Amino acid sequence: MIIPPRDTNKWKETDMPNVLRSLWERVPENTKIKLRGDYNSVSHRFVDRPRDGIVLFAQSLLGKRFLSWYAKRLDAAANQVKPGEGGRHLSKIETMKTGAEDLEVVKRFGLQADNSLYEFGTGFGRSAQHFVNFLDTDRYFGNDISAARIRQMREFFEFNELAKKNPTFFVTANNSFDWAEGKTFDFIWTMAVFCHMPDEDVREVFRNVHKIMHPSSIFLALDTHLDDSDRIHRYNAKDWFRPPSWYCDAAAEAGLHSEDVSEKLVAGVGSQNVSTPLGYKGMKFSSHLIKMTLS
Ligand SMILES: C[S@@+](CC[C@H](N)C(=O)[O-])C[C@H]1O[C@@H](n2cnc3c(N)ncnc32)[C@H](O)[C@@H]1O
Repeated sequence: MIIPPRDTNKWKETDMPNVLRSLWERVPENTKIKLRGDYNSVSHRFVDRPRDGIVLFAQSLLGKRFLSWYAKRLDAAANQVKPGEGGRHLSKIETMKTGAEDLEVVKRFGLQADNSLYEFGTGFGRSAQHFVNFLDTDRYFGNDISAARIRQMREFFEFNELAKKNPTFFVTANNSFDWAEGKTFDFIWTMAVFCHMPDEDVREVFRNVHKIMHPSSIFLALDTHLDDSDRIHRYNAKDWFRPPSWYCDAAAEAGLHSEDVSEKLVAGVGSQNVSTPLGYKGMKFSSHLIKMTLS
């Protein structure tokens, strides 16, 4: 699913060799909880997170951006589905049966079929399939840093005959919006993308998004925060929780008018807009929706 950003480590405590597992089973539950901390497994906390941190640090010394590391990681996973098989594959994935709620949210802000909509961070097209279906031909645009995800999405759109609506997809390597070549859009949508971006990259989006906005454009950003927390929490190498106020302030610093409009979320959007537990200790997180305009 999009979020929750649960641990994605392949190796779990249940995969331990038998000898280790029988020793592990003798460890008192309280000790296990302490060892796991906020995570679903000890290995995630003590192996995966430090390893990712070291790789990211080394890459930053070489001048590489977080998003190139993340794109490679997503591409490696998505490329396990061979070219040509993306349509059939995605049509069987449960997550791809969701996303209609995202369209309902944007409609609450006035989206009409003849409007143009730009999606930042399309993923596999979970929401895009509903936007493209609803909008007139040539009215949907989107980008993602993962070429393999976009490739699967294109195949999925061929498979379910949405390609005839002629959506435009960009594979991008930065947050400049220069690839849109000055085109502006009535609505801009992003969902569960900022939570996978470092603070400075989110700020960069806010500084540059005006390039694709006209005076009446509405930019809607749906994301998650930890309940009862007013600080930024980096859960692991690729997942950040930031309070809605952080997004409003960062957008305002970039000259955008911003507003927390979470009361407009529809039931079930993002699958977790009612407090959902995360990690072994069950931290609670919820969705928020920020609306941004040029003035
Ligand atoms: C959790 S998925 C959400 C996908 C989609 N928005 C949805 O709701 O199904 C996050 C997506 O954001 C993309 N992403 C992360 N950083 C990005 C960036 N800086 N620019 C564009 N896409 C980005 C990732 O490649 C990934 O496909």
